[in-house]
Amino acid sequence: MTLTVVEHPLVQHKLTLMRDKATPTNQFRQLLREISHLIAYEVTRDLPTEYRSIETPMMEMKAPVLAGKKLALISILRAGNGLLDGVLELIPSARVGFVGLYRDEETLQPVQYYFKVPDNMSERVVIAVDPMLATGNSSVAAIDLLKQAGAHDIKFLCLLAAPEGIARMQDAHPDVDIVTAAVDEKLSDIGYILPGLGDAGDRMFGTK
Ligand code: URA
Repeated sequence: MTLTVVEHPLVQHKLTLMRDKATPTNQFRQLLREISHLIAYEVTRDLPTEYRSIETPMMEMKAPVLAGKKLALISILRAGNGLLDGVLELIPSARVGFVGLYRDEETLQPVQYYFKVPDNMSERVVIAVDPMLATGNSSVAAIDLLKQAGAHDIKFLCLLAAPEGIARMQDAHPDVDIVTAAVDEKLSDIGYILPGLGDAGDRMFGTK
């Protein structure tokens, strides 16, 4: 597994604004959209390319294009949708799937309520998106389901990760590379990332 922390100043600046509890929902959403472009750039860095013959107005050339089947973006509901929108703007031809898991607030264990992914998952690069890698329970469960659907080339894209979540993912799915904007200190006793940004879903959708 590789862990990539996107330390670019633009990413860090936007992340700080998102962490600030005074940042309102509309601005939080806009920042999430902007930051997702920047971290999507990083998670797609190693995508395979192939050469295609084209004609520029000047001459023929062989130029690189993305190779293979369209990649699959998988949103882990519901907070994943905030990241998904921005990543899709960067990769508009991607196929999209959804994994619905909610966290039982007492056991902190994930409970599945929805699963719909593109076909031929075994032939696609799969990018699972969820802003918060906290305990890792729901992320690991989502990757379990994606592997059951045939996926084996999977990357995990998040905004914030806790050391506990990274360790859990590394243990359960050592083949899954993680890209994040920051690794925070630890989890709270109810499984929130500290210092974190609060509940990502509530911050982006204005719920409480
Ligand atoms: N999910 C969130 O939205 N925030 C956290 O801090 C942890 C999990």
